[in-house]
Amino acid sequence: MITSKFALLSLVVWLGTTNALHIPRQEQESSSNNSENSEGDQSPIATPYASPTDNYETHDTATHTYSPYPTDYHSDSDKHTYHPTETQTKKGEYTKGSGHGGECTTTDLGWIPTSGYPTPTPLATTNANAITPTRTGPIGSHTGSAIDFKGDYSDWQLEEFWDDWVGPVQEPPLRDTPCPPQPYPLPEDPPHLFPDYLVSHPEDILTKYKFPKDFLFGWATAAQQWEGAVKDGGKGPTVWDWASRFPGFIVDNTTSDVGDLGYYLYKQDLARLAALGGNVYSFSMFWTRIFPFGSADSPVNHEGLKFYKDLIDYSWSQGIEPVVTLFHWDTPLALQLEYGAFASERIIDDFVNYAETVFRAYNGTVHKWVTFNEPVVFCSQGGYPINSTFPEGLNSTVYPYTCSYHLTLAHAKTVRRFRELNIQGEIAFKSDNFVGVPWRGYDNKEDLYAVERHAAYQIGVFAEPIYVSGDWPEILKNDLPPEILPRFSDEQKELIKGTADFFAIDGYRVGYVTAPPNGFDACIANISDPLWPVCNQVNFYEPTPYAWGFADFADKRVPWLQNTWQFLRQSLSDLLRRYPTDGGIYLSEFGFAEPGENEQPYKYIATTDTKRELYFLSYLGEVLKAIVEDGTPVKGTFGWSLVDKLLRISQSFEWNNGFSVRFGVQYVDFNSPTLERTFKRSAIAMSKFWNSHRNGDGHGKDDKGDDKKKW
Ligand SMILES: *[C@@H]1O[C@H](CO)[C@@H](O)[C@H](O)[C@H]1NC(C)=O
Ligand SMILES: *[C@@H]1O[C@H](CO)[C@@H](O)[C@H](O)[C@H]1NC(C)=O
Ligand SMILES: *[C@@H]1O[C@H](CO)[C@@H](O)[C@H](O)[C@H]1NC(C)=O
Ligand SMILES: *[C@@H]1O[C@H](CO)[C@@H](O)[C@H](O)[C@H]1NC(C)=O
Ligand SMILES: *[C@@H]1O[C@H](CO)[C@@H](O)[C@H](O)[C@H]1NC(C)=O
Ligand SMILES: *[C@@H]1O[C@H](CO)[C@@H](O)[C@H](O)[C@H]1NC(C)=O
Repeated sequence: MITSKFALLSLVVWLGTTNALHIPRQEQESSSNNSENSEGDQSPIATPYASPTDNYETHDTATHTYSPYPTDYHSDSDKHTYHPTETQTKKGEYTKGSGHGGECTTTDLGWIPTSGYPTPTPLATTNANAITPTRTGPIGSHTGSAIDFKGDYSDWQLEEFWDDWVGPVQEPPLRDTPCPPQPYPLPEDPPHLFPDYLVSHPEDILTKYKFPKDFLFGWATAAQQWEGAVKDGGKGPTVWDWASRFPGFIVDNTTSDVGDLGYYLYKQDLARLAALGGNVYSFSMFWTRIFPFGSADSPVNHEGLKFYKDLIDYSWSQGIEPVVTLFHWDTPLALQLEYGAFASERIIDDFVNYAETVFRAYNGTVHKWVTFNEPVVFCSQGGYPINSTFPEGLNSTVYPYTCSYHLTLAHAKTVRRFRELNIQGEIAFKSDNFVGVPWRGYDNKEDLYAVERHAAYQIGVFAEPIYVSGDWPEILKNDLPPEILPRFSDEQKELIKGTADFFAIDGYRVGYVTAPPNGFDACIANISDPLWPVCNQVNFYEPTPYAWGFADFADKRVPWLQNTWQFLRQSLSDLLRRYPTDGGIYLSEFGFAEPGENEQPYKYIATTDTKRELYFLSYLGEVLKAIVEDGTPVKGTFGWSLVDKLLRISQSFEWNNGFSVRFGVQYVDFNSPTLERTFKRSAIAMSKFWNSHRNGDGHGKDDKGDDKKKW
């Protein structure tokens, strides 16, 4: 239940500063020299942050379940490069492209300004990455009949494919991979904004509670938003590369052609993550970097495999464990056009083939795997132009269930293959949304039923078969006939059940749930009802005549998002009760859209993201309480997101906001030739909270200092 709905003001949060972490100017300067001196330069920056080297060592000790590499690991590259199988080499491989810049050049990006007084220049009001959307080639005229490459998967064919279906792609502003300084400097502390009696410093919150030693703390990104360089290194086009060319598809006309340019700037981003104290980075791989045409009979792109190997290796070198998501919505365009991708059962074997290629390539160097990101949201994305590729007879209303059926089988077969191949580590998928809280209270039967419906459709649709029964939730089977929701055979149920090693929730918020205005029966029977088939209503205000909002609200373009810290603990334990697993639970994404952040005239205003800071500190505090007070085995948190993003693809109804909504704890200047990153207040606050509460003894102490040895 709600512990205190109006406790926001008394919530002890930090908006202030200490000077303890101030970096003396002289040391800042010496560490801002961009030489590759990771081992040699031990310049004594006086911070309590573990240096990247310290972090790295913690992975070698018993504090971490895995060492970064198998004991027989040599940096000798052929040990961990992928050896293609017969089918994967028969069509040749891609060799063109300028490379992703594995070499470390020393371009000066002005990492942290260290001298002079600033003269702020106004931020640009338009994004240099916006393009005028145009249909090129046959875009929009496709009628669902297969395109056929006739087995020609040459470089030339790939180039033609790009030209015909996507058209011109923006060039990245740079193609070097700069070497970040080691250790990476942090700026001086941000100033205190509110009186001490109102807010507290992160290190002064819940001082007796500590995260367990093996707790994972870091941030997440997705390839389609972070990597950019969408046509470099032999990558094939995705559905996003294509759909973002349609007028009106992305409101501000940005594409992800350049994005955050993580493909070239990954060393900088990892060094900055390490500087914040993070020990984990969650990213996704582009399926089309590895299989440009997507399908099992098409060739593997070794340059793509090489890029992810470099990313993984560099990550470990910074003391950061890489967590890999195989699919964060970047469907290969070739498969979408050829057979409607997840609208067809053909997707299953093509996905398993891609996954197996990745597993073999990185076995032992990645220990946590995610098959699919937020499948409920992904399968709801069946509007135009994607629905122009659907097989005859399938429409946007039915597609989510066709997609769910194929995706569940693809997940299950992938995990079975993972286990057959004895790939090291753990695997699961990421759920989103929430179970919900009955709006009019736990004694209201209607609202309790509405909560069950919400849980069944938003989480249970995948979690019930995978964690519990092998089959769809009863509520779905009762509502939806087999023509809409295909049924699993007994054999398929056996295949699906038990195919996850941990639970991952993208737990941004939890809402109140209530009955639909016209009642359940009328809604369930009416496929045209806007609330069909979930048939419930989510509210973010109190069930009182005055109707107070019960949470701090995010940017108005993200109406689904609120700071609902008061429901987090209950939500985590509720999920594990409903969908039990031995592997514990991860808060695999959580984050906040600061209102109006993108329209701020100066960077010093945009980086003053106090609502995001409050959000992250509230959630981290609640996670700590969940561990220590409730004994909930929360194993890690991944903030969304490491840097600001274009094409915010984490929720369907906002996926086309372009860059008008920012989610990063670092500001990205999309108009700067170096895609310059600047830490926001929220990044520093999270870092301070983590660094002052990390490396506990595996359990916590309560307010009286008594041990609470619950896990
Ligand atoms: C960079 O290093 C050189 C010598 O290697 C030194 O002369 C110079 O002052 C350093 N620059 C900064 C900004 O610290
Ligand atoms: C996006 O492009 C369309 C043309 O297709 C134009 O009308 C619209 O003003 C553009 N929007 C922005 C925010 O640039
Ligand atoms: C495709 O989606 C659009 C909405 O994006 C919708 O208007 C149209 O009716 C859909 N077409 C089909 C065949 O489902
Ligand atoms: C979509 O298909 C289903 C099942 O065939 C049908 O009941 C429904 O009316 C169709 N919806 C539209 C908008 O055509
Ligand atoms: C993965 O690594 C484990 C442990 O080294 C090994 O037993 C297994 O055979 C490897 N699997 C593949 C497909 O290489
Ligand atoms: C079904 O819902 C639609 C949209 O709300 C509405 O127009 C229609 O009257 C409803 N049909 C019935 C039988 O209630």
